[in-house]
Amino acid sequence: MAPNDRFLLAAVMGWPISQSRSPALHNFWFAQHGLSGSYVPLAIPPERLEHALRALPALNFSGCNLTIPLKQDAMRILDEVDITAKRIGAISCVVVRPDGSLAGSNNDWYGFVHNILEFIPNWRPDIGPIAVMGAGGGARAVVYGLMERGAKEIRLCNRTHARALTLAKEFNGPITVLPWDQRHDAIEGCAMLVNATSQGMIGQAALDLRLDKLPVGALVNDIIYIPRETPLIEAARKRGNRTVTGLGMLLHQGIPAWKAWFGIEPKVTQELRSRIEATL
Ligand SMILES: NC(=O)c1ccc[n+]([C@@H]2O[C@H](COP(=O)([O-])OP(=O)(O)OC[C@H]3O[C@@H](n4cnc5c(N)ncnc54)[C@H](OP(=O)(O)O)[C@@H]3O)[C@@H](O)[C@H]2O)c1
Repeated sequence: MAPNDRFLLAAVMGWPISQSRSPALHNFWFAQHGLSGSYVPLAIPPERLEHALRALPALNFSGCNLTIPLKQDAMRILDEVDITAKRIGAISCVVVRPDGSLAGSNNDWYGFVHNILEFIPNWRPDIGPIAVMGAGGGARAVVYGLMERGAKEIRLCNRTHARALTLAKEFNGPITVLPWDQRHDAIEGCAMLVNATSQGMIGQAALDLRLDKLPVGALVNDIIYIPRETPLIEAARKRGNRTVTGLGMLLHQGIPAWKAWFGIEPKVTQELRSRIEATL
């Protein structure tokens, strides 16, 4: 065995990639566990994805994460895609198996659920209706996570109505699709509101949603983490709602990735959170 066989390697592939906080997250864990290893950001345009993924075994990588716009493209490339990734329709994590073949999974839903549980350990998505804004890749992971945890009523609103209808049909769960112009009413009586659109992200307009019909007891979560606190989270906090920001979704999805790549279960700690928040 060559001496550097113990050097652990993983990566994130995206296009562009410079905005990714994943290297800071995973390199923190390498240092915390006293491991020699590195997690590298790789700028890979979609047309080079297949070559890049197939190079992972030869380069001794244990696997990689995928981010925009590669999460869907990888579905047709990998040797095996698990049932969760198929259902969500996107791959967030690739594992290099001992025989060099590539397996894909999706851990975003896990990150979403465990981010909420970190702050509200007794959180139960079945105690009342949950409004989800958005029907893109992030929303699919959110809805999957809510259904996994037993949500009984999900009200789904998306600017492009047909996309929400497709999601509801594919997921075949307790999902009611409401037109985008009814979003202000859709949150009435809800126990939870999730923003899974890109509105509120740095460089984008705030999510155009009036909160007056949302109960003050409702939990509000935004899956966006740049900025750290979106206009929605700020408005919800100011009117007295409990809020959970989006960074923890990114942090927690790293845990099952590490289990699969290195057989180690890392922890999301306050020190880690502060370190990554300082980069936002
Ligand atoms: N915290 C995390 O770990 C995590 C994980 C995944 C995603 N995210 C964040 O979640 C956000 C969405 O990501 P994604 O992957 O789901 O993106 P996506 O697949 O491109 O979906 C974007 C969503 O935003 C909606 N949208 C875009 N512009 C809009 C507008 N002007 N008004 C209303 N709705 C609009 C889209 O509606 P249409 O269908 O009408 O276009 C769609 O529902 C991003 O900010 C991303 O960074 C965070």
